[in-house]
Amino acid sequence: MEKKKESFGSKIGFIFAAAGSAVGLGNIWRFPYLAAKYGGGIFLLVYIILAITFGFSLMITEIAIGRKTGKSVIGAYKDVDKRFAFLGPIAAAVPFIITPYYCVIGGWVLKYLCVFCTGAGKSVADEGEFFTGFIGRWYEPALFFVVFAAITALVVILGVQKGIELISKVLMPVLLVLIVGIAIYTMTIPGAISGLKYYVLPNFKGFTLSMFLKTLVAAMGQLFYSMSLAMGIMVTYGSYMRKEDSLEGSVRQIEIFDTAVAILAGMIIVPAVFAFSNGNSDALNAGPSLMFITLPNVFKTMKGGQIVGGLFFFLVALAALTSAISLLETIVSIVCEKLKLSRVLGTIICISFVLVIGMTSVFGYSVWDEVTIFGYQFLDFYDFISNNVMMPIVSLLTCILIGYFAKTKFIEEEVLSGEKKFAAKGLYKVMILAICPLCMLVILISNFFLSL
Ligand code: PFF
Repeated sequence: MEKKKESFGSKIGFIFAAAGSAVGLGNIWRFPYLAAKYGGGIFLLVYIILAITFGFSLMITEIAIGRKTGKSVIGAYKDVDKRFAFLGPIAAAVPFIITPYYCVIGGWVLKYLCVFCTGAGKSVADEGEFFTGFIGRWYEPALFFVVFAAITALVVILGVQKGIELISKVLMPVLLVLIVGIAIYTMTIPGAISGLKYYVLPNFKGFTLSMFLKTLVAAMGQLFYSMSLAMGIMVTYGSYMRKEDSLEGSVRQIEIFDTAVAILAGMIIVPAVFAFSNGNSDALNAGPSLMFITLPNVFKTMKGGQIVGGLFFFLVALAALTSAISLLETIVSIVCEKLKLSRVLGTIICISFVLVIGMTSVFGYSVWDEVTIFGYQFLDFYDFISNNVMMPIVSLLTCILIGYFAKTKFIEEEVLSGEKKFAAKGLYKVMILAICPLCMLVILISNFFLSL
């Protein structure tokens, strides 16, 4: 079996890089509005339980497949079982779809960061005119998208140890300090504590079974997104992991990091918006626009809001960058392996692809805003097809492959190559053989009905 030459230099380097991939826009932009929408504390509880069972099992599976085969996602599934070779290209297609639009959103974050850094934070605080005006003028989002994509490509060109590992080891601790600091500051705003209660205390009043099911499906979907699962990223990063490092322990730490950042992001956004709207929880239902429209209004009224806002968007930019790096690295590793190219050439080809496809998302909100695909604008279509259709299919088939064809022993052996004991072996088996595939089916079916 041909092994990858590059690898992470240390266990902590691997953990920071994988956590850097996991902690992204999903944690800061998506998690808080979902938590606000699905009953605050109840969503948190469901999410945490899913993370330590479902997320743990899927992440350990993907990293183990990568480490054992030493291949990018296409070769890896084929190595596990030839009959599942078709799964590689499906999983590989996901980051090809996500990377371009993720970099477009990364560009939006850069724009907000620039606005706050130039002291003009107040100009973005309105009813949404600034945001829609910005994404509606193609040249500006295009410019910020190109800058964001170029920074991402630069890190990937530098390689696994000198690029990805180094930048993750520096940026992730900075991110953690920033998010804890901003969360503590937010708690000091008058009225924030009631928001915090709304966010962390489960409110079962009027909570029906159908609401619970919706919460479950939303939390599962978020888990995929947040933990960078079912898109070949963890397989790729696993292929760079050293054999002697503990897999189970690393996965636990990545999960804790990812979940902690998501919860902390909610601790900034939910109480701040709550205090700003005088306890009106409707303000939290702004959905995706919560971060780009509602929050700047909160910063406008907050003492020191210009600085807090600047730091906040800096934090989001860091999180988006380390995730975009992992998405790009995954497609670069596929292209280099398949076409036998050097890292530099592979990255240039991949970033050119990202720029071309990403422009469709940029234009989709501006000059092509009349054009839709199955009723979706370009960016929303890419998001829907990858997150709601392809990722659950990849996960379902991965569970079937490992549970019923390669057998869970395949993963157990890999876990035991770096540590003496697989502590959660029992839980792992139950999850992969029964609960995970069942959950995936539920997600697929419910997504199908929700999209009708
Ligand atoms: N896990 C990262 C995030 O939460 O932002 C990266 C990512 C995963 C981005 C999946 C997009 C995606 F669809």
